[in-house]
Amino acid sequence: MSGGPVLITGAAGGVGTVLRGGLPEKGWALRSLDVVELQETRPGEEHRVADAADLAAMVDAATGASAVVQLAGHRGEATWPVIAHSHIETTRTALEAARRAGVQRVVLASSNHATGFTPRPAGGLLREADAPHRPDTYYGVAKVTMEALGSLYVDRYGMDVVCLRIGSAFPEPTTVRQLATWLSPGDTVRLVDAALRAPSPGYAVVWGISANTRAWWDLSAARALGYDPQDDAEPYAEALIEAYGEPDPDDPVHARVGGEYTLPDLDADEVEARMGEEGR
Ligand SMILES: NC(=O)c1ccc[n+]([C@@H]2O[C@H](COP(=O)([O-])OP(=O)(O)OC[C@H]3O[C@@H](n4cnc5c(N)ncnc54)[C@H](O)[C@@H]3O)[C@@H](O)[C@H]2O)c1
Repeated sequence: MSGGPVLITGAAGGVGTVLRGGLPEKGWALRSLDVVELQETRPGEEHRVADAADLAAMVDAATGASAVVQLAGHRGEATWPVIAHSHIETTRTALEAARRAGVQRVVLASSNHATGFTPRPAGGLLREADAPHRPDTYYGVAKVTMEALGSLYVDRYGMDVVCLRIGSAFPEPTTVRQLATWLSPGDTVRLVDAALRAPSPGYAVVWGISANTRAWWDLSAARALGYDPQDDAEPYAEALIEAYGEPDPDDPVHARVGGEYTLPDLDADEVEARMGEEGR
């Protein structure tokens, strides 16, 4: 770990804003990059408006950084051109830019949707190793590709790449499923801080959730990196269950890791009809 700033791509988004708020208290300086301007910059923060798929801009941004945190990407499912550019091209570029700039560590925002069609365990906790790649969407395919690219850069170039299979990183849980999958803002900062500090992690893939009472993901691998979650979705349970009912284990939303993302309304033709061929 060198003393340079952490380069955060997709810094203007929800997760980026949480990290930019919390990482400085953990001692990290910030360098931000997004296709849009930030609403406000933090003291000492450098921001660049650029496409994270622009290799020259990314090499420039990564030069002197201590690590790259790759968050850039379109939120949720989209058409293939949008997913391919905003997630896959940006991830390849982030890793390649880090390599060219001599940055040893990259943290990648993967997702549970890389494994979305995996059946949710009937009891007990699901380990990463027991959740093979079964993407539920093109978005999930992008996260599978992200994990594969990370693996390539570790094995071929000896870099350290930590893939965080994030559950639901929002200010608070708003669905019954999120009582299991929530990653609180505070724990988002703790998880990324652990991924940035863990000594020589090599290639690591870990679930990213809070210490939720109703969790069905095993946090042992994340804890082994040094992650110590402090939050739990349980205080939200009574209100959410009163509003939406107890989870039905036969409902695909609760029977599969990817929840709603496995439903037919995310079939490619449905998404294209909603978004148009180019996706936005
Ligand atoms: N929020 C979650 O629950 C969750 C769960 C799993 C994974 N993730 C992943 O974490 C990352 C961040 O998620 P988020 O919730 O903050 O999303 P978000 O949509 O709020 O933010 C994404 C940011 O990326 C930027 N962006 C998009 N394309 C870009 C490009 N080509 N170059 C530079 N910037 C670009 C957007 O402008 C936006 O500010 C994403 O990769 C997402 O897939 C999030």
